[in-house]
This record gives sequence, C-alpha cells and structure tokens, in this order.
Amino acid sequence: MNKMTASKPFSSRSVDEITGGCRLRRMRKADWSRRLVQESRLSVDDLIWPIFIVDGKGRREEIAAMPGVFRMSLDFAVKEAERAAKLGIPAIATFPNVDMNLRDQTGSHILDADNIINKATRAIKQAVPEIGIITDVALDPFTSHGHDGILRDGVIVNDETVQQITAAAVLQAASGSDIIAPSDMMDGRIGAIRDALDANGFQDVAIMSYATKFASAFYGPYREAVGTAGLLKGDKKTYYIDHANSDEAVRETEQDLAEGADMIMVKPGLPYLDIIRRLKDEFRVPTFAYQVSGEYSMIKAASANGWIDGEKAMLESLLAFKRAGCDGILTYFAPQVAQMLKG
Ligand code: PBG
Repeated sequence: MNKMTASKPFSSRSVDEITGGCRLRRMRKADWSRRLVQESRLSVDDLIWPIFIVDGKGRREEIAAMPGVFRMSLDFAVKEAERAAKLGIPAIATFPNVDMNLRDQTGSHILDADNIINKATRAIKQAVPEIGIITDVALDPFTSHGHDGILRDGVIVNDETVQQITAAAVLQAASGSDIIAPSDMMDGRIGAIRDALDANGFQDVAIMSYATKFASAFYGPYREAVGTAGLLKGDKKTYYIDHANSDEAVRETEQDLAEGADMIMVKPGLPYLDIIRRLKDEFRVPTFAYQVSGEYSMIKAASANGWIDGEKAMLESLLAFKRAGCDGILTYFAPQVAQMLKG
C-alpha cells in the first residue's frame, strides 16, 4: 500500500462535493455495463437499401462519386435483392437511370408500364417475394431537364404533375410495388395517389411520404447516379423545403398525414436530426430518414483518405438516426451494415 491510498486521497472529498456522489462514469466503466445501459440500437430490421437500375444485361457500373455503389441491370439487381433478403434487409428502394433518348419535357416514359422501374419491380417480386419494394414516383429520372415535375414556361406545374405521378403510382402498384414513395414535393400528391390506388384496388399498397424533403446540396452524387446532373438547370427551391425551415416541415407532414401517408421520411438525414425528433414527438407515426448520397460519399471519401474510420463513422451516423427517433433508415450502407450486424 502506498502513501496515497493509505492516507485519505487528497482530492476525493472535493470531487464528491462537486458531483454530489452522482458519477455517470460508473456505468461507462466496462463493456458489459455500457451494453446494459445502451438506449438506442441499430438492427438489420431498420434498413432500407436504395439501389440504382439500368437497362440491358450484365451491366454493373460503379458510380464514380459513390464508391461501392453500382448501377445494375435487372439480372444483377435481382441477385442483389436476393442477397439483401438473405441478410434480412426488409426492403429495397429502386431508382432508375433512364436512357437519355427516353427522357422528355414531361417525363412521359414514367407512364410506360414496361419502363425499367416497373420491370425491376416485377422481376424482383417474382424472384424474391419476401423483400419489400419501395418505388419513387418523381419525374426527375424521366425528364430531359432533371426536374421532379412537368416544366412549362419555366415553372414546375403542380396539378398536372400530380396527375402524371398519380397515374405512374397506379402502374407501379400494378407491377407489384409495396410502397409508393413520392419524392417530388408537389402539393396534394399524397391524397391524389391514395385515391387512385384505392380506386384501382390497391388499398394495401402503402405510401411513404418524403414529407420533408429539403432543398439540399447533399444530393449531388445521386444526380450523377441517375444521370440528371448534366441536365438540371437552376435549383429545386420552388418545390423542396427551404433548409432553414422547421415549422414548415411540421405543416407539410401534417398535411401529408391528413391526406393518407402511412409513413413519413426526412431527407437528407444527418443535418436534419432536429426535424426527425420534432416530427416523431409531434406525430408518433413511422418515421424514416434518408441518409442521402452526399452523406454516404462524405464518409467514404474521408475514410478513403484515412481521415476517419469509415466503419465506425457509418455505424455512428446510423445510430444517430435511431436516437433521433427514426424507425428506419434508407442508406446505401445497408448491405455492409447488415453483414456487420450479422457477423
Ligand atoms: C429526386 C430525388 C433526389 C434524390 C432521390 N430522388 C434528389 C434530387 O436529385 O434532387 C436524392 C437521393 C440521394 O441523394 O441519395 N426526386
């Protein structure tokens, strides 16, 4: 026994006076106690995997701005859906890179029952019936200008766009889509889609509203992935929410829920954790975040440079969504995380 411990440690009394005997570090002292008091957990059941589809066969092209993410033709997409199902990932979300020749001013190819999104849904449903399929009805992959709506005289027209995506939603449901996820932010779209789905016998097809989609710089790599980067002129500020606004996010969500949304989504994710928490507290409905392409690429780029531990940053960012109140997360990391959680 040395002198320090034999006599009264000189500083213990003064520290206890400060802490009042409450020492939060007691529960942090070992792995077992940290696990015991952990509040939020990430599970494979929280994951939705967004994938990119292209026409053709045998195509698997890495997206330069998203290392580890590929555009895949249907044969590969089906295989990847099988892998995802085996890993226990509940659902995938499909996004098309449409042939440039098929894109036009109004995005009319979205109304082709045999476009690659609908073909992908049918192929995946047939091969992997146990995985959920989420399809977006925004027009941006189908328009020659990369906007989510129909452009007339420099204006994205609301009601005509809603009519078009409503018809597209019915075609997607007829192809086997389980959840329609409109990401276009037109007013009134949720109610219109709900009515059309119901009228066509698709009462069981759900709607995940991109209730709060912010005008954001974090979508850059996605636009390369679906080929809208070179097409888009101007920005999407006349339809996406100003990223300075939080009350408006609540109003938008309230409206979408009143119109029949089954689940809501906040997009992008990490810069908007305050919105997620606010919406979860306010509405208590299934709430999701989309960890978008820019968020993915930032982690990948920093990790490739050796500046951060990529795996740890990935897990920390995903757990942050759970802590903020998310029921699930759309993330390009889904298969990697699922594999890790399994291991
Ligand atoms: C547009 C759409 C966007 C994303 C998916 N659908 C945004 C945009 O291009 O403006 C972004 C997804 C991502 O960044 O991962 N309807």
